[in-house]
Amino acid sequence: MVVSPVSPILCFFSIYIPSFASPIAPHTNLSLSLVLVLSPLYTSLPFMGAIDVAAIAKTEGESMVKREEERMGEAEYMKGVRHLCDTGVTKVPNRYILPAPDRPHIVRCGDSTNSHNLKLPIIDLSLLHTPKRAMALEALSMACKEYGFFQVVNHGIPSEVIEDMIDVSKRFFGMPYDEREKYMSSDLRSPVRYGTSFNQIKDRVFCWRDFLKLSCQPLESVLPFWPSSPADMREKTSAYANGMKSLFKELMSAILESLGVSMNALSEFDDGSHLMVVNCFPPCPEPNLTLGMPPHSDYGFLTLLLQDQVAGLQVQYKDEWVTIDPVPGAFVVNIGDHLEIFSNGIYKSILHRVLVNSLQNRISIASLHSMPVEKVISPAAELVSESSPKRYMDTDFTTFLKYISSTEFKKKNFLESRKLTRTMDQTTEGQLC
Ligand code: OGA
Ligand code: NI
Repeated sequence: MVVSPVSPILCFFSIYIPSFASPIAPHTNLSLSLVLVLSPLYTSLPFMGAIDVAAIAKTEGESMVKREEERMGEAEYMKGVRHLCDTGVTKVPNRYILPAPDRPHIVRCGDSTNSHNLKLPIIDLSLLHTPKRAMALEALSMACKEYGFFQVVNHGIPSEVIEDMIDVSKRFFGMPYDEREKYMSSDLRSPVRYGTSFNQIKDRVFCWRDFLKLSCQPLESVLPFWPSSPADMREKTSAYANGMKSLFKELMSAILESLGVSMNALSEFDDGSHLMVVNCFPPCPEPNLTLGMPPHSDYGFLTLLLQDQVAGLQVQYKDEWVTIDPVPGAFVVNIGDHLEIFSNGIYKSILHRVLVNSLQNRISIASLHSMPVEKVISPAAELVSESSPKRYMDTDFTTFLKYISSTEFKKKNFLESRKLTRTMDQTTEGQLC
């Protein structure tokens, strides 16, 4: 029996600041051939003695040539940054250069003596099965309120499963472009999507990232669509995806308990959406000019992030960007927009971004989890009372898609748009702020 892959597949799980994300002009073959035809005419003008005209024409000619270069580059940029690096770039092309205010200020990223590095709370999950459970839940609750991010250790995912996932991801991005290209798709509903930047059709400034997005729900139906090379990709990745699903459910059970919310919600995650994003950030010749991922918040309940030993993730903490040093064997977990809504704002979905560096390739695997896409997310009944009114409107995936396609969304705008003021709560609930 042929089972159709997941209903709507969440590839828009993250919300990005698009101060540098807007549509690029479409290119036509006509404009390209016009440049080619006109260029010789301009270069011959100086010999006609028309100095002023020639100077203007020369400038125009140069800019047309430049535009042509950009257009030729454009096709190359669409192939991704791995491909760009393979061509031997020594400078960051304009397409990737952020406006000055959006650039990172890199202060020796990865140096643990650096005050910009943050030690996230580390939650020892093995304590959840001991008499110290209450203490572990308290630490978890504090981390979710104060940082929106934490790391987990003793999580029960075998180190072999983790190492195999990193290893197969490296081998996937190490394959020739022709192999990777097979999985490129502009169809947001495709269960497998290879691409670059955030939204390569829309981004005005590209990010220094290539990605492979794999929908994981339901696993047996989507598996046949996943890459067949490297040969062990499906086997290693599905073992990892299964591990992430059960870790997510264990974490959600602890989080519901820490919030004092009924465990009934837990079953909603059994068939919940699950998207895996394998990120590759190649070394970048000028890492101060660009970002691996722009500031964004994640859309779902929780994101479980596996990073290799190369630092790059930064989170916003007390209005500063701080680097999260990788802890061997740990997962970084962060609260997504859905959990902020569900917890009625008690737990926070925090902006984060990725720096690149000039020396090392970086691999990360983000597993994004939520309830099924058709499910409406609203603040949990137990967390709403007269003294603590509902702070967010009910939210579903369709509203989110409508929102991002109708607005130039910024930072955490979507979440902001779901917020209710006290007055609105009483009077105009259900409308956008
Ligand atoms: C993401 C993400 C961080 C990283 O994929 O949404 O935030 O360090 N990744 O790769
Ligand atoms: Ni993210």
